[in-house]
Amino acid sequence: MGEVRKSDVLIIGSGVAGMTCAIKIAEARPDIKVTVISKTNKEESNTFYAQGGVAAVWNEETDTQEKHIADTLDAGDGLCDEAIVRMVVQEGPERVKELISWGARFDKERDGDYNLGKEGGHSENRILHYKDITGREIQRTLIEKAASLPNIKVLENLFAIDLLTQHHLGYNITRLTPGIACYGVYALDKNNLDVEKHLARVTVLATGGAGQIYRATTNPTVATGDGIAMMYRAKGRLNNMEFVQFHPTSLYNPAVEKQAFLVSEAVRGFGAVLRAKNGEAFMDKYDSRKSLAPRDIVARAIDNEMKIRGDEFVYLDCRHLDMTEFKKHFPNIYEKCLEEGYDAAKDMIPVVPACHFFCGGILVDKNGKTSVSQLYAAGECTASGLHGANRLASNSLLEGLVFGHNIAEDIASSIDSLTFRIEIPDWDARGTTNPKEMVLITQSWKELKDIMSSYVGIVRSNVRIRRALDRLRLLYQETEVLYNTTALSPQLCELRNLITIAYLVTRSASMRHESRGLHYTTDFPDLLDHLEETYL
Ligand code: FAD
Ligand code: SIN
Repeated sequence: MGEVRKSDVLIIGSGVAGMTCAIKIAEARPDIKVTVISKTNKEESNTFYAQGGVAAVWNEETDTQEKHIADTLDAGDGLCDEAIVRMVVQEGPERVKELISWGARFDKERDGDYNLGKEGGHSENRILHYKDITGREIQRTLIEKAASLPNIKVLENLFAIDLLTQHHLGYNITRLTPGIACYGVYALDKNNLDVEKHLARVTVLATGGAGQIYRATTNPTVATGDGIAMMYRAKGRLNNMEFVQFHPTSLYNPAVEKQAFLVSEAVRGFGAVLRAKNGEAFMDKYDSRKSLAPRDIVARAIDNEMKIRGDEFVYLDCRHLDMTEFKKHFPNIYEKCLEEGYDAAKDMIPVVPACHFFCGGILVDKNGKTSVSQLYAAGECTASGLHGANRLASNSLLEGLVFGHNIAEDIASSIDSLTFRIEIPDWDARGTTNPKEMVLITQSWKELKDIMSSYVGIVRSNVRIRRALDRLRLLYQETEVLYNTTALSPQLCELRNLITIAYLVTRSASMRHESRGLHYTTDFPDLLDHLEETYL
């Protein structure tokens, strides 16, 4: 049996949202013990791979917060919560300044002003970036800052399995039960496969997205939607799960199984143009903003062109750009393309859309409070109202910074009245045996990716969604049998979570009888004139 651990605040996830929250609580309340857990190493996260940067109004001579708000609302296609959008845009620059004060570097012009990039859907240049590896720089900064605070402990290779609630004290909990509360998590120690009980006065989910439900994704393998799935099992509220963002331009390489390489939208912001295989620039058929239209429009346009032409990719043409500047701005992308045999100065780069970001997730308020008491959530695992039906590029790192901060303020002022629930029982592993064939898990994961990619991708329909639901049901039943009879492994827990996420995306898609933002279905191609939200 694993250890029993206690922390005042337990944060699950070491990306931008979790780390910011940990730092801000630790600074505000040096008397409070904060633990951050990460299921692999503390660097590995969607945050680490962020390229384009952080959107924030920086140059007030050319840009205004109203413009950033309008662009965010426009991308969100009617489903953003305007009050939340305003809050994030207004607080954003302050949070970015804080990050800079902790040591984050962003590229500057010769005159010392920040070099501001542009991405799809932005009416102005407002994206602060560090070359094309902004996420790596932010992650480094946050890890170093956290290490300087003695009341933060970061535990790696610890996999949160389930939230502890009254269910674990023997009560029957349903989605209608009032007053559900969270007392910490059960977590699997990946070093010895023991399950430990981790008690907390307050728990924060910052577990990121779930791109791994699709065959092609820009997300690393840790993005398996664990926090959202845990919340669903704990009977908490989720929202807008059908809105899955596909990034228009990941580097085409059918041999890559786990994580597609992103070619940042900032490359199009720098002037690169999308072309069909025959060289035709096709985006003007779809939107006056051409290659820099919001992502949902560009990804659907590429999907359509590939289908009409029978091509397996389109090209991104950078050949006309100033290559000295290009290499300065995008050294990582330039090198990666070169490794794959494409010199951006001479060759067009083959690209395809890939699953990139989850706009829906755990429903939270402006302070990151969820429907479960003593439980907060921040970052990509949430539906905060910022992104609505489609996220504006580079608003996600900003969301993590702002909500991490707000949650910390709320916890710092409310935690004193909260206690531990020490009567939660230890994990019970009786009746399980070691798995005989781990390959069954890998096969089911592949099947799941095929189902979601074939039936619940960029363009959906009733028939496709029904097919997906039928097939997911079978996968779910098989996986539950495995889960109830075999000893836990991280792979099995992830598969179970991925199936839950796939079900939630598909079920929410089946409930939305219109096309809005990232959800496009051929059976209901128009927008409804009244708004619907799909709570689960
Ligand atoms: P993450 O950074 O994904 O962190 C999740 C953490 O949770 C990880 O530490 C993980 O180990 C941990 N975790 C998950 N499950 C468990 C579990 N069961 N137990 C314990 N720990 C767990 N956004 C922008 O704004 N600008 C960009 O330029 C940009 N570029 C991007 C480029 C790429 C390639 C990708 C993939 C995303 C990009 N995004 C960008 C999106 C953005 O990076 C993410 O949405 C954001 O970083 C999410 O931060 P987070 O803290 O919510 O989650
Ligand atoms: C990119 O650099 O294109 C990704 C930006 C984002 O996802 O916000």
